[in-house]
Amino acid sequence: MKPVRILFVCLGNICRSPLAEGVMRDIVHKAGHGHAVSIDSAGIGAWHVGAPPDQRSISVAKAHGIDITGLRGRQISAADFAAFDLILGMDMSNVRDLSALAPAAMAGKVHLFMRYATGHAGDVPDPYYETADVFEALYQMLEAGCLSLLARLEERAS
Ligand code: 4NP
Repeated sequence: MKPVRILFVCLGNICRSPLAEGVMRDIVHKAGHGHAVSIDSAGIGAWHVGAPPDQRSISVAKAHGIDITGLRGRQISAADFAAFDLILGMDMSNVRDLSALAPAAMAGKVHLFMRYATGHAGDVPDPYYETADVFEALYQMLEAGCLSLLARLEERAS
């Protein structure tokens, strides 16, 4: 598989994007592509820099056999637009913010995650003010999206 560097981005980098990072890493490793795909996550905002993922994301990941406790929040930086090939925002607000931050030459790297992965546009909704049960639905959406993303990446010429 052609090497690719993927950055998942949400607002706070504690709920959606670290869960996406953990899920995608798990899927990629199980598919035997760990050597070709590098994965990271970042937030638009700086509120949770240095913080572990939200306990609700940690718990739902753990329930599915994925450990994301070692991840720490960080804010997107200008260097990320050069360092990654795909910069995938979780919702349209994230994509608008990323597009505003991206150097013009790098703007083509920014996509809405679910549209890029599945061909069908849709936000991964912000779960921060939701109850814990919403995180299982979040997990299911991210898993489906990441499986589609891997399939799309596998189709690319190596
Ligand atoms: P995330 O969720 O973008 O999925 O990490 C949020 C986390 C924190 C905040 C908003 C959304 N916040 O406003 O602090």
